[in-house]
Amino acid sequence: MKTRITELLGIEHPIFQAAMSWASSNAPLVIAVSNAGGMGVLGAGPLRPADCSRLLGEIRAGTKKPFGVNIPLNGARAPELLEISLRKKIPVMVASQGGPREHLPRFRAIGAKWLQVVASVEHAKKAEAAGVDALVVDGAEAGGHPPPSNVGTIVLVRRIVRATRLPVVASGGVADGAGIAALLALGAEAVQLGTRFIATPEASVHENYKRAVLAADVHDTCLVGPPALPIRQLKNAFTQKFQAAREDEREALFKASSLKKAALEGDVEWGRVEAGQSAGLVDEILPAAEVMKRLVQEMEQARNRLASL
Ligand SMILES: Cc1cc2nc3c(=O)[nH]c(=O)nc-3n(C[C@H](O)[C@H](O)[C@H](O)COP(=O)(O)O)c2cc1C
Repeated sequence: MKTRITELLGIEHPIFQAAMSWASSNAPLVIAVSNAGGMGVLGAGPLRPADCSRLLGEIRAGTKKPFGVNIPLNGARAPELLEISLRKKIPVMVASQGGPREHLPRFRAIGAKWLQVVASVEHAKKAEAAGVDALVVDGAEAGGHPPPSNVGTIVLVRRIVRATRLPVVASGGVADGAGIAALLALGAEAVQLGTRFIATPEASVHENYKRAVLAADVHDTCLVGPPALPIRQLKNAFTQKFQAAREDEREALFKASSLKKAALEGDVEWGRVEAGQSAGLVDEILPAAEVMKRLVQEMEQARNRLASL
């Protein structure tokens, strides 16, 4: 299947493995997805610069195919991570949480494509004006940081496809090929899946985290954190305490928990088990290459089903 995104990035399938701090902050998942014809994305946000540099070397050694690097631009380490990405001549930047304008010329100079993660029409238009190559549009179902406006993927993707001329990668709430086909039908030119790829042997989170994702149903997530930058995660002891707490107690509670606690230590009761509503659609741990194979097959089945109606 050819779309403007597959052509722009030189990938076989219009499928992205979403950047996920800790879950995709290692080489094996990125390599497996890129080798299977999708776009593997390194979640560089939590990495120390030296580790990021090493992992980029490992990814280069593991795949000849294109891959991406995600850097949340508001992070304290973002300047160093950007420098390393430039030095390593990465093919694709997937930037979130900050404006692209000042960085674009240097990434253009190394031939990299720049995709900007947005969660509103306003930010989509700003990114288009700044000259990015494509948008990743996150809807409310997404794990991690969904839009504060709480607009769902179907509505937000459609709105942004109509509002800009850029190709759109739709993200949030998709765990199978039928979901991919649905978003392509809305005008997206690729679809990104995060939570689905947590349930793979390659994802670099604790087994308890993977099992919690498998056990969750579609209504088992909630939002925590500051209302301007909410986080979608699985309900657990921490979210219960956070939601029952007084407004003035919440900041301290939020800081006492972390994604790292759940992802690396396996504390899925008091850590932040970030995952999307699509956790309710994931019930099996499968190698990432097998996930990719099934996604492509299911996408074809969905297309055929529609064509036969
Ligand atoms: C554990 C986890 C960590 C995430 N970390 C990041 C991150 O570091 N940077 C980013 O841009 N998005 C991050 N996200 C959001 C994903 O890139 C993606 O938008 C989301 O997973 C899509 O929704 P889905 O989980 O329903 O597929 C994270 C999501 C999860 C579940």
